[in-house]
Amino acid sequence: MTPITHKTLEVPLLAALGPVTPEESRLLEKLDLQRLPRHLAVIMDGNGRWAQKRHLPRIAGHRAGTQTARTTIETCARLHLEALTLYAFSVENWRRPQAEIDFLMQLLREYLRQEMPLIQKNNIRMRFLGRLEELPAGVQNDVRESMEKTAGNQGMVLCVALNYGGRAEIVDAVNAILAAERTSLAGSVPRRVSEEDLSRHLYTDGLPDPDLLIRTSGEMRVSNFLLWQIAYAEILVTETLWPDFNRTRLLEALVEYQKRERRYGGIREDGSEEPKPARVAGE
Ligand code: FPP
Repeated sequence: MTPITHKTLEVPLLAALGPVTPEESRLLEKLDLQRLPRHLAVIMDGNGRWAQKRHLPRIAGHRAGTQTARTTIETCARLHLEALTLYAFSVENWRRPQAEIDFLMQLLREYLRQEMPLIQKNNIRMRFLGRLEELPAGVQNDVRESMEKTAGNQGMVLCVALNYGGRAEIVDAVNAILAAERTSLAGSVPRRVSEEDLSRHLYTDGLPDPDLLIRTSGEMRVSNFLLWQIAYAEILVTETLWPDFNRTRLLEALVEYQKRERRYGGIREDGSEEPKPARVAGE
């Protein structure tokens, strides 16, 4: 493998990525490993269009999408991100044809079984975000097992958003707070709820908020994903369809993220204007 010189960190960490293409090598040289997002969230969109372009059934796009998920998970784990969240199935996705829903559930179960060695090898801890109790019993079992098997892992947290909705999550958090109030403070005046209280009752409790949200396939929407948590996230929309979002595209997105200046509502130190938001040069 070509040795990679890097601004801030020694190369061995990157050796973990295995053989890299010349383009990836150039991107890795630009990447500051100390300023990677702590938490990356991804809306994996465009599987259907990818399949359509090839005159294949939509499910072929979902199957191809699982390969991209694998590469993304492995790359993020090896770059030592703290957390990666993938939007696998939304509360709105139940409106899809039953055959596609069944396929997606089956695919997820297959994925959890087949990928467990890779998850374990990379020391990944799995979490699932969403109304899990509404999922088919078999899926609930696999979800529980995956969390149990990886509970002791110390590396990246991989969150799979499943039957997930951002508004549903906030409603669930409020109801959890009210339920706790009812049991602990019966009859007394309810206290004021703080942002910290609410955050602690979200499915993402204990995780840093995403610094970067990537959406593939060009749609400029957040689609009810992590509504509370992405308050200050950088958003990158790429035209690349999810099955084509390979490791090079991911590294490009990370380089693009590092060009952004995050101000959290403050002003630039030199008082100059904010730079224009950029889009990822997808392809
Ligand atoms: C959107 O494509 C994608 C989904 C509904 C999620 C499915 C994701 C996978 C199968 C990747 C595997 C992930 C894991 C964690 C195993 P779309 O059908 O909306 O595409 P379209 O907008 O082109 O129709």
